[in-house]
Amino acid sequence: MSYLAKVQQAVETANGLPNEFYTDPAVYAQETKRLLLGQWSGVAFAGDVPEVGDVFPVELAGVPLVVVRDRENQVRVYENVCRHRGMILVGEAGKAKQGMRCPYHSWTYDLNGRLVATPLVGGPDANHHPCIDKPELGLLEVPAHVYLGVVYVNVSKDAGPFREMHSKLLDRWAEFEQPLFFDRDVSQFTLDVACNWKLAVENYCEAYHLPWIHPDLNSYSRIEDHYNIVESDAYSGQGTTVFNPTRTEDGRLLDTFTGLKDQWWNGQAEYIVLYPNVLAGVHRDHVFAMLLLPQGVNHTIERVGIFYASEASMGEDFADLRSVNAKQWRLVFDEDIQVVEGMQRGRNAPHFDGGRFSPAMDTATHCFHAWVAKSMS
Ligand code: FES
Ligand SMILES: [Fe+2]
Repeated sequence: MSYLAKVQQAVETANGLPNEFYTDPAVYAQETKRLLLGQWSGVAFAGDVPEVGDVFPVELAGVPLVVVRDRENQVRVYENVCRHRGMILVGEAGKAKQGMRCPYHSWTYDLNGRLVATPLVGGPDANHHPCIDKPELGLLEVPAHVYLGVVYVNVSKDAGPFREMHSKLLDRWAEFEQPLFFDRDVSQFTLDVACNWKLAVENYCEAYHLPWIHPDLNSYSRIEDHYNIVESDAYSGQGTTVFNPTRTEDGRLLDTFTGLKDQWWNGQAEYIVLYPNVLAGVHRDHVFAMLLLPQGVNHTIERVGIFYASEASMGEDFADLRSVNAKQWRLVFDEDIQVVEGMQRGRNAPHFDGGRFSPAMDTATHCFHAWVAKSMS
C-alpha cells in the first residue's frame, strides 16, 4: 500500500503524513500549488481595507497579491503585478483613491483594476500608443470571497464557489454571519513560528493537549467539555460547551451577536479549520481567525484577528475588555508555539513514520491528514 493510502485508512490504523511533507521543499512546492493556490485560502482580513480606496499587499505562498476596497465597497483581489514590465505594483498598505500607480514607469490602474494611464508610452510627448490597448491590460483579478472577517482567494480559479465548498459550515455557523467590528490597534497580532503550516492546523484541530499545554484554559474549559467536529473534504476541529466570556471586575460584558440559539448563550464555542489555512473560532460575543501564511517548508507567519458583535463593543468603554480578550488569546497561541516547533524538529528523525492518532481524541487531525493525502495523491 502506498504511504498516502495508509494515511487515508480509518483513524484506528492510519499513519500520519510522512516527514517529507514537513521538510522537503519539493513537496512544499507541489502542496502550495494544489492546496494553497488550488483551494480557497485566507490571505487577509476585510478590516485590512476598511475604507474605499484602501490597498493592502500580501503574499500567499510567494504569490504577490493586493487586496483593494473598490468604489462599490467590495473587496477585490488582484495579482500585485504591473502589466507593463511586471513590477510589483503596490509596495505597502495605504490609500489609493486616485488609483494604483506603478512606481517604475507610472502606468496607473483604478480600483476596479482598469488601466487608466500610460504616460509617455508613445514617446516623450504621447501618452498613448496604438499597440497598447488599455482595456486589454487591466490588472489580473483573482476570485475573492469574504467570510467571517477573512478575505479568501482561489488563485488557480478552479475551486468552484466558496459558498458551495463550505456550505455545511455556513449552515452550521449561519447565525454568525452578521456585521463584524474590528479595531486594528488591539484586536490583531502576528506570530512568527518555525514550523510547517500544517502543524499549526493539526494542533488547532484537537483539545487533547489542553491539560498539559494550556493549564489555565483547561482549568475552566476542561478536556471532557470538548467534542470533535469532522467534515471530510472541507473542515474539522473541536468545540466546547463551557466558554467563559471575558468580563470586568465590575461585571461588564461585551455585546453578544443578535439572534443566537441558546447553546451559544450557554457557553458553547467552536474552533474549526477551514481547509487549508484558516483557523476560525466562534463565541457568543466575538469570533476570531488565524491566517496561516506559509513562508517556506518550515516557516509560517500566523496572523490573528478578533472581530466583535457591535459598534458599541468597539468604544472606549470596552477597550479594557478587548485588550484582555486579545491578551488571553495571545497567551493560548503563544503556548502552542513550543509544540508546533517541537513537532517540526521531530520530523527530522529519519525513521519517524508519521505517527499514530488517538481514535478518540485525534479524529479531527486525522481528517485533515486524510484530506491532504487525498488532495496530493
Ligand atoms: S513596470 Fe509598471 S509601469 Fe513599467
Ligand atoms: Fe493549543
